[in-house]
Amino acid sequence: MDMLTIMEKIVKMIKIRRSITFRIAKISAVGLYTFLVLSGSLQASKELFIEARCVRCHSIMSEGVEPLRSTLREGKKIRDLSSSGGHHDKEWIKKWLKQEVRHRGKRHPAYWKGPDDKLDEIAEFVSNLKSKIPESQVKAWLKELVETDKGLDLPKESEYIEVRK
Ligand code: HEC
Repeated sequence: MDMLTIMEKIVKMIKIRRSITFRIAKISAVGLYTFLVLSGSLQASKELFIEARCVRCHSIMSEGVEPLRSTLREGKKIRDLSSSGGHHDKEWIKKWLKQEVRHRGKRHPAYWKGPDDKLDEIAEFVSNLKSKIPESQVKAWLKELVETDKGLDLPKESEYIEVRK
């Protein structure tokens, strides 16, 4: 091999390595972007859940969403929704929140009066909650929140829901 072919080989190798590095960087950037978009939308839905004041009666232990402190202080029952997506699909949840369907003979006590797109978002979010945390663990967590006087310190009023029977 003469000097020139060696040089050519080296240049070729550098070019290949560069293109591989570039491709890896591109794949990582796309992955990171997707991750940020997904976690961003999850975060936004969680905030909507809190803003709509579902936290007045519900928690989502799997997502670290605590219920309102005022409800805990009143000793009222909190229904954790960590596994609700395993029992109900999105369309059912939308009807449920519009009080159009019954569950064990009862209607949902909170009627959704907010915009349709937000209802869609919140139903999508809840229908994806499929955690399998045991009931006993949820109970222990809620008990601890009561005992340590934790929970979200927010007013219970909401512009998205109306509590009625
Ligand atoms: C005033 C209290 C109250 C508020 C506010 C409230 N809920 Fe509920 N929710 C309940 C009660 C009580 C039940 C259980 C009813 C039953 O099973 O008969 C329930 C049940 C549910 C269920 C079914 C749970 C399951 O696994 O079967 C879903 C889903 C749900 N609520 C979503 C929401 C969402 C989303 C919001 C906010 C927009 C909300 N709730 C606000 C009281 C409330």
